[in-house]
Amino acid sequence: MQIRDLKLVNFRNYKKVDLQFSKHLNLIIGKNGMGKTNLIEAIYVLALTKSFRVSVDNILIFNDEVNLKIEGNVDNKNYELLLTKEGKKVKINKTNILRLSDYISKINVILFNPNDLRIIKDTPSVRRKMLNIEISQLNNLYLKQLQNYNRIIKQRNSYLKAMSINGNASKDYLDILTNKLIEVGLEIYDKRREFIEKINTEIANLFFKITNLEGLKVCYESDYQDMTKEGLLKLYKKSFDRDMMFGQTHIGIHHDDIVFKLNAANLKDYGSEGQQKNTIIAWKLAEIAIFYEKKESYPILILDDLFSELDKEKINNILNLLRDDIQTFITTTELDNIDKKYLQNCKIFRINEGQVEEDTNEK
Ligand SMILES: Nc1ncnc2c1ncn2[C@@H]1O[C@H](COP(=O)(O)OP(=O)(O)OP(=O)(O)O)[C@@H](O)[C@H]1O
Ligand SMILES: [Mg+2]
Repeated sequence: MQIRDLKLVNFRNYKKVDLQFSKHLNLIIGKNGMGKTNLIEAIYVLALTKSFRVSVDNILIFNDEVNLKIEGNVDNKNYELLLTKEGKKVKINKTNILRLSDYISKINVILFNPNDLRIIKDTPSVRRKMLNIEISQLNNLYLKQLQNYNRIIKQRNSYLKAMSINGNASKDYLDILTNKLIEVGLEIYDKRREFIEKINTEIANLFFKITNLEGLKVCYESDYQDMTKEGLLKLYKKSFDRDMMFGQTHIGIHHDDIVFKLNAANLKDYGSEGQQKNTIIAWKLAEIAIFYEKKESYPILILDDLFSELDKEKINNILNLLRDDIQTFITTTELDNIDKKYLQNCKIFRINEGQVEEDTNEK
């Protein structure tokens, strides 16, 4: 998948720009605060209709303006996103697409952003959110199953509360909800397990190529691990008193977590900043392989602020892993640490307060 060009009107600190991208590597260079992340954010918003940085869309509009427009050609289709007072509108080949869900994920992107370091450091909910976003891009059914699961959890929790108020309430209805929960929960569990297994077939080797360290593994932790339906029913039964006391369901895939281990050590407590960053980068690169297997085309790869905190050797090891047939965007403050050979077939965009200068080294 390739984005050939991008036109921005009133997006962040870009009043108006029109850019032509390389099919291979695009390097976006500029000092802090000049608009590098803004530029790749525009590509992300064109693909997913939402920013990865802010939840309020209006922040994306240039200073005091009222509308913004992002337009780009991706694999010979024209995509357009407009944000006006009336809301968000999207078009493909100039035709309005009424439901955002019919538009989202037509353009596939994989993004690394420094914020992603939270994936290792933060609470399990951050890791579950990442899994959910990534698996649902690959599997349309997954999101529906997840919504279904969350609905059943809500019903079960409110019934537990009702039961604790009314001591005579029937347990039959709770059993029905528990059975439904297990059924959908197992489906979600299987998809997460399969995804993590696939990540594990790639990630150790990628991490080794970047860091020269062996033994990276992603461990999936779930109440549903190796459990049959009968076994799970017993678990829920055991947890019944506790569940009723708190009006909450304590067992289920809504408590799942993933742990990044380097041999026996948990990288959350043990890993250096650079090791944690390289782990997430290896994860994103592993995802590309899974994407290709499923969709038979490569997503657009965006690596924001890739080089900070990494030494020269690791930077060039990562560049060495990037394939020429995957369109890649990298933002950075300087080119000093990049081997010259990687600069031979790329396009360089120099950003200065929302102004862009293009410099092509393309063969
Ligand atoms: N809606 C907006 N209108 C105008 N300017 C904006 C808007 N939103 C953000 N900016 C400006 O964009 C700049 C930040 O851009 P960006 O985050 O892309 O920087 P960067 O080049 O990635 O910097 P760093 O190297 O620090 O990551 C800030 O100077 C901010 O004032
Ligand atoms: Mg930035």
